[in-house]
Parts: sequence; structure tokens; C-alpha cells
Amino acid sequence: MPTVAILGASGYSGQETLDRALRHPELEVVALGSDSLEGESASALDLRLNGSLPAFVSNEQALAAGADVVFACLGNDRAALLEPPPGAVVVDLSGAHRLKDAALYPAWYGFEHPRPGVLADWSYAIPELFPPSGALIANPGCYATAAILALEPLRGAIDEGSVVIDAKSGVSGAGRELKASSHAGFVLDNVSPYRVGTHQHAPEIAQALGFPVCFVPHLLPIRRGLLATCYVKPVSVDLRDLLDEAYADSAVVRVLPEGVNPELARVQHTDAAEIALYEDPSTGRAVVVCALDNLGKGAAGQALQNANIALGLDETLGLRLTGVLV
Ligand SMILES: NC(=O)c1ccc[n+]([C@@H]2O[C@H](COP(=O)([O-])OP(=O)(O)OC[C@H]3O[C@@H](n4cnc5c(N)ncnc54)[C@H](OP(=O)(O)O)[C@@H]3O)[C@@H](O)[C@H]2O)c1
Repeated sequence: MPTVAILGASGYSGQETLDRALRHPELEVVALGSDSLEGESASALDLRLNGSLPAFVSNEQALAAGADVVFACLGNDRAALLEPPPGAVVVDLSGAHRLKDAALYPAWYGFEHPRPGVLADWSYAIPELFPPSGALIANPGCYATAAILALEPLRGAIDEGSVVIDAKSGVSGAGRELKASSHAGFVLDNVSPYRVGTHQHAPEIAQALGFPVCFVPHLLPIRRGLLATCYVKPVSVDLRDLLDEAYADSAVVRVLPEGVNPELARVQHTDAAEIALYEDPSTGRAVVVCALDNLGKGAAGQALQNANIALGLDETLGLRLTGVLV
């Protein structure tokens, strides 16, 4: 059975990755990395974790534990320093290996990439559109996943200069770390745009689509879930056919029938994504909306999906795709 180490297991995406790895029938968790919880038992993270799991070790020790699969759920600057163990599948949930052009890191991530020469070794992978092609996998960002799922199948059928993405996410997208911008006193009963024109997912979306987009993220006063509403001008064929065709075989991405609206409630706590297409006859625009859970398809769910593919396993093992939670 392939073994798993999780770096940054104490963070939101690390904990969600752990939850999926524990329910995965073909994976065994052998190392939990956290610098802040080093030496503590797994239950220090969550009381529901009991004695069958190993105690926390440092992230460095978890990386060196000899696991077949490493999930790196670290901050961007820490992940950029990673030296992948030879032979292991490494899925990096951060943005540290997503951009092919190292020169973009100072402007969009605020640091000079410490290992620019390795970026070409990592495959940026959304399984439904571009599956991983090697053992080093850059897991896409949550907003980027939603925007790319909605727009990539439409490339060539829309006016590239017309694309506007109005996106909204719950506060868990900002991580467990305490920040004034995710303080309850600011977030509750409030909705606000942030990092307009400077959000680090904008170059990632442009890299995948091949053209820049106007991307405006907003913070919602909810814990989890993300909605990307994409406004486009169609130039040719039926956009619905393109979306239907792209996701016809997917167990993860649902293209909704006409008249059904995407809902955060249906994707929260799951690894699924929903896409809806609307026409606006008075302006000739089309609107494509993608809903997903930022910690599910936007992070841990997609990370497991990518790891499954790299290991030659059924892509959906360990994913949360069933149930009718209210
Ligand atoms: N949250 C999302 O929806 C999401 C979606 C896609 C990708 N990602 C990416 O995944 C990576 C991890 O994100 P995350 O949301 O899981 O971040 P996070 O919750 O802030 O955790 C990241 C790391 O920060 C440290 N940490 C945890 N709690 C902390 C606290 N209270 N104070 C200070 N540090 C703390 C932990 O490392 P140590 O214990 O080792 O110190 C933890 O592993 C990031 O690169 C992020 O961009 C996140």
C-alpha cells in the first residue's frame, strides 16, 4: 500500500488532505508534519484523531520519512524551498511551483523564487483538463481551479479580451493562521473585494488560458465554498456543447442543465464542482458560473485526485463525491 506524508498537516488544507488520506482505501498515512505541533500526538490537532496515527514530526522529518506520496500543504515561501525526495510523488498545494516563469514570483507572491530552475519539472494539473504528467505535481489554486474549469473548454469560442471573473470565497480560503482580514469582527455581516488586480491566482489563470483576465476576488462571511462568475462574449459555436463535451466523463465536475443554478450548499464539504451556463440576450454576453469547495476541489480533493492518477489508481478514491448533505 503506498505510504503518505503530509507536510503542514496542522493547516486547513493539510487537515482536509489528512481526512481524505485516512478514508482512502489504498493509502497509509505514515508521517504528519508540522513545525508548530512537532512532538505532539495527532489528537493535538483534532480530538477526533486517535492513537492509530503517528505523532507529529517536523516538516523536514516528514519530508524525509520515505513516503511514496508527499502532500505539501505549506505556505508559498516555505514550499518553494522543498527538495522533493527521489522517486516520490509530491503534490504541492501551494503556489510555489505553479508559475512556469520564475520572474513572476516577486510581483505576485512577494518573494524571489529560491529554486527557479526546478519550475519546469512540475506539472500544473487539473485532472479533467490537463492531468499530471510526472511525479511532481503543482496543485492549482482554489479560485484558479474554478475559473479554469469554467473557461478553458471555451477557449477559441469567446472573445479573450472580454473575460471578467467575479469570484467569492469563504474565509477558510485564507488559511487557519490568524489575520486581521479574516477576523470575525471584519468578516461577519460583511462582503468585500480584496487584492483586486494583484491576486496571485490571476497569473495562474492567464498561464492556463493563454490570455489575461480581469479577476476580482471577494471575501464572503461563510467558512467554506467558492463561486466564480465569469462574464464572456461568445464569438462562435454553442458554448454549452463545449462544456458538456469537456466534462461528459467526469465524476467530479457537473455541468448543470438549463434552469438549474449552481449552489455553494451542494458543493460545500465535497470534492465536486458545478458549472452553469447562462445567456444574457440583451448584451450578447454569456455567463459561466463554477461553484466548488475551496478546501475540496479547490485544494485537498484535487490533490488526492492528482495523486491517484500519478499512482495509477482510480482517480476518485478517497474523494467526497456521494451524499446529499443539506
Ligand atoms: N485554504 C485554502 O482554501 C487553500 C486552497 C488551495 C490552496 N491552498 C494553499 O495551501 C497552502 C496551505 O494553506 P492553508 O490554507 O492550509 O494554510 P494554513 O491553514 O494557514 O496552514 C499553513 C501552515 O501554517 C502553519 N499554521 C497553522 N495554524 C497556524 C496558526 N494558528 N498560526 C500560525 N501558523 C499556523 C502551519 O504550519 P506549522 O504547523 O508547520 O507551523 C500550517 O501547516 C497555502 O500555500 C495555500 O495557498 C489553500
